[in-house]
Amino acid sequence: MEAVADTISKIIKRFRLGDIKAETPEENARRQAEYERQKNLEYYQFETKNFLKKRSLFNQENALISEYKGIDENSPDTFRELAKRSVDVVRDFVNQNMYTVILTGKAGTGKTMLTSCMLNKLNQETYLRCLFVSVPAMYDLVMSKFAKDSDKNIKKKQDRLYHLMNDVKEADVIALDDLGSETSLKSEVVEANQTFQDTLFKIGEIIQTKGLIISTNNSSSDFQEMYNPKITSRLLTKNPAHIFNFPESLEDKRIARR
Ligand SMILES: Nc1ncnc2c1ncn2[C@@H]1O[C@H](COP(=O)(O)OP(=O)(O)O)[C@@H](O)[C@H]1O
Ligand SMILES: [Mg+2]
Repeated sequence: MEAVADTISKIIKRFRLGDIKAETPEENARRQAEYERQKNLEYYQFETKNFLKKRSLFNQENALISEYKGIDENSPDTFRELAKRSVDVVRDFVNQNMYTVILTGKAGTGKTMLTSCMLNKLNQETYLRCLFVSVPAMYDLVMSKFAKDSDKNIKKKQDRLYHLMNDVKEADVIALDDLGSETSLKSEVVEANQTFQDTLFKIGEIIQTKGLIISTNNSSSDFQEMYNPKITSRLLTKNPAHIFNFPESLEDKRIARR
């Protein structure tokens, strides 16, 4: 009998069973709740990190490939200055100081590239949800309703648009890339154009508390002619500190490389 007691005592010691305290039901519930909270947080963080890649709407592959470290060291001073200012915007967004910035200038001067740098930096260094939206690609989704296409394709595009609008609501920082270029594709159907303006208006309402990065080939006076004032007043900014002019002197890199 004594030998058995001795063995049990050794097992208790060996596996430190004596260290395990009996939990009260309250402690158990608290521990379970803490575990659930931790798991939910981890899931939220995982979803947030993937948000940019998974939910963004692109019209070209690799739109989000650029990062600050990839900026050409021999870039003109004007570009480097714009890049430096964009880092200040990133810092403001990190500090929850949200506003609209407009990157404006001719094609190929690096507007989408700088947008990509900003979004990637925010995505890497924070848990802000970032979303890239190609406006021409969004225009295509909106217009699908009026296009001559199979019911299946139309439904697919309308579903994508529905999810995109939810993603805009969920995001903290949104890029509208190439705003204004869709007007060159403008449909003759008045109702179609109205539908697209309605979409922009809805986005304008949603982004009021969010960070917005607009890249465009248009000037603000172009926008006044193109869109309803209700849209321009919600989407655009007049603050010169938030307007990035990409000068003509920045050559069209896209053409230069060919
Ligand atoms: N300063 C720069 N350094 C390195 N690559 C650049 C620079 N500016 C533009 N590019 C490259 O030139 C191409 C066109 O730039 P992009 O950002 O698409 O122009 P935009 O959006 O103004 O039309 C891209 O492949 C981009 O990576
Ligand atoms: Mg671009």
